[in-house]
Amino acid sequence: MTTKTTAIDPATKSMDDIVALCKRRGFVFPASEIYGGLNGFWDYGPLGTQLKNNLRDDWWKNMVECPPLDPDGHPLQIVGLDSAIIQNPKTWEASGHIAGFNDPMVDCRGCKARFRADHIDEYECPLKPSKKAGDHDKCDLTEPRQFNLMFETFIGAIKDEDAKAYLRPETAQGIFLDYKNIVDTMRVKVPFGIAQVGKAFRNEVTPRNFIFRSREFEQMEMEWFCHPDEAPKWYEFWKEQRMGWWASLGVAAENLRFRDHEEDELAHYSKMCVDVEYRYPFTAPGFGELEGIAHRGCFDLTQHQEHSKQKLEYFDQEGKQRYIPNVIEPASGLTRGVLVLLCEAYTPDDSRPSKVFMKFHPRLAPIKAGIFPLVNKDGMPQVAEKLYMDLRRRFTVQIDVKQNIGKRYARMDEAGTPFCFTVDGDTLSGQTVTVRHRDTQQQERIALDKVAEFLGEQIEDGE
Ligand code: GAP
Repeated sequence: MTTKTTAIDPATKSMDDIVALCKRRGFVFPASEIYGGLNGFWDYGPLGTQLKNNLRDDWWKNMVECPPLDPDGHPLQIVGLDSAIIQNPKTWEASGHIAGFNDPMVDCRGCKARFRADHIDEYECPLKPSKKAGDHDKCDLTEPRQFNLMFETFIGAIKDEDAKAYLRPETAQGIFLDYKNIVDTMRVKVPFGIAQVGKAFRNEVTPRNFIFRSREFEQMEMEWFCHPDEAPKWYEFWKEQRMGWWASLGVAAENLRFRDHEEDELAHYSKMCVDVEYRYPFTAPGFGELEGIAHRGCFDLTQHQEHSKQKLEYFDQEGKQRYIPNVIEPASGLTRGVLVLLCEAYTPDDSRPSKVFMKFHPRLAPIKAGIFPLVNKDGMPQVAEKLYMDLRRRFTVQIDVKQNIGKRYARMDEAGTPFCFTVDGDTLSGQTVTVRHRDTQQQERIALDKVAEFLGEQIEDGE
């Protein structure tokens, strides 16, 4: 079986409903909610954490453990890294973040709201009757001012300029700082990649759209080091790879597209950049950024070589050539990817008690299967318990003995659990269970001793 992509128009999905389901089912909670929350910060609940981990693991498998094949059919060389969140502050001078990682912001003296000057058309003025930012009679916007997005902190006991440090605004720089260590220790040869997943922090002027733009988030970035002459070829290669990966997660082709950056929107380090965009419910019928694939040239290694006074050239033994590699960087947001999975999976369906189900790809679903005794007596709980104990080492499964079976199915539908196995009277006599398929609600009987094999096949192949 293959995953059917949704044909539901994202414009018909309500973000309020998606956010409410995320809260109700333990995917995402507002951070520090009991104190009134904190704008731009979110907690991932039990199901959200599992979904995020599954997405992260799939990316890691696809990048590091089982990387794509090159055009000649050979596996690429990509190694993993987990660098520190706080690095020597000189890092951010060299990378250009201290000087240039700014967003222009404007304040309104009338309504006291703050807007990103480059996105002003997208905001509404909080004054009623509500109009576009700047359009209300009482609006009085300041001139745009540059606002640096890096969070500052201090190292040690004395809080002065010398002790100032920054929470990383991207995971990429840690990779450049360890480039030499990896070349020296890992027997890698250009072209090769270094991949990293981890937290990044940006003091966004206007965090919004749920977890789309937050102040603390996670990235999945891979820096691909290659010969400058080969950079255009690898740029095209990674573009196709990345789009293919998002599609492999069950995201409908019509909800994904590429968008090339215009010359004037390129980041300071970037020679070329293309975004993989997704049609979010709040951008539909338009699209918004999910991942960027950038040609960073030799900008970062050259900058770090100059600022650190350490040689970061690569010596090509075969070609007897010394050069600073170029970098192609597929950079995606892990937490933004979770938002895409949540929006894509959200499927209203009036025919079922829950009125909605989450159509996650079985590989990514936080819970792979629910295990239910039909009734909590007649030996059924014992058989269900044994099945649960057999499966739980291989799969994330849940046993649920409470409430009627319809309510248990409804809860699993909202959690996006692709299969439910029910132990009933026939299980005891015939050694079979029913399996209910989330997407069709159809049921079939399979042998009790074939459940693990069935689940393994379904998760590998997708439904
Ligand atoms: N190293 C390059 C880099 O960081 P970016 O386009 O600024 O590039 C990469 O970020 C990805 O990180 C974005 O495509 C997006 O998915 C995610 N991202 C960036 N800022 C974010 C934010 N404030 N909240 C959530 N995700 C964010």
